[in-house]
Amino acid sequence: MSDNSQTVQATAAIILNGVTKAFVIEAQRVEALRGVNLRIERGSCVSITGRSGAGKSTLLHIIGTLDRPSEGTVTIGGIDVSRMSDQATSKFRNRKLGFIFQSSNLLPEFSALENVMMPGVIAGIRGHAARERAAYLLNSVGLRDRASHRPAELSGGEQQRVAIARALFMEPEVLLADEPTGNLDKGTSLAIQDLLLELAAVHKTTMILVTHDHLLAERMPSRVIMEDGRVLSATGVSQ
Ligand SMILES: Nc1ncnc2c1ncn2[C@@H]1O[C@H](COP(=O)(O)OP(=O)(O)OP(=O)(O)O)[C@@H](O)[C@H]1O
Ligand SMILES: [Mg+2]
Repeated sequence: MSDNSQTVQATAAIILNGVTKAFVIEAQRVEALRGVNLRIERGSCVSITGRSGAGKSTLLHIIGTLDRPSEGTVTIGGIDVSRMSDQATSKFRNRKLGFIFQSSNLLPEFSALENVMMPGVIAGIRGHAARERAAYLLNSVGLRDRASHRPAELSGGEQQRVAIARALFMEPEVLLADEPTGNLDKGTSLAIQDLLLELAAVHKTTMILVTHDHLLAERMPSRVIMEDGRVLSATGVSQ
């Protein structure tokens, strides 16, 4: 590898090279991804849009190490995550990645504060410092007064804000969001969008966000449009 390519490697947060994904269910084979090449620079905020079934969630799951490609490689921060063992992958995911999904997936029996701390608990970070950090993050998403509420005692937008705070707990290098505002009313959705963009800028996080909301997609500096398992167009992201 030349010096020049090493420099490029060091500045790109995420590199996808020839990523394909086929699902085989009984006799039926679905080619969800058909050769995706993307180079996403550190600190960039990228939207992924495209029709239902285009492969957006599959792509996000593969970047997030929740699934593996059938072919091709995924490199995050210089590490080839498509070749890691399951155990190393879980640890990597916990330390480096933050996830926000359409429904907040909070643990119902725990308080907002405990939910935010959960990635820390998994990583063995407990005690006063962890509680302080969770409280700081809840405050930063405007939920200081809701720390002891359980998810069922929070509105949908509040639950999503708890999920955002939880995703940020480990200071992830990469934040992955799949339709994070899909279940929210317009006003709440806009507030969550503002918050995500602000937090990504403050923490210099690389953010990849799947959305059907074109207004949200257009707020992101970089944009990828997918069609039929392929990248149809990429703006601010090289292929
Ligand atoms: N676990 C799976 N098993 C089999 N097929 C799958 C699986 N996950 C996704 N697919 C198929 O892969 C294709 C892409 O699915 P994906 O969920 O990535 O689409 P999407 O772009 O996120 O769509 P939407 O906008 O509806 O969420 C679809 O045809 C889907 O049926
Ligand atoms: Mg999807």
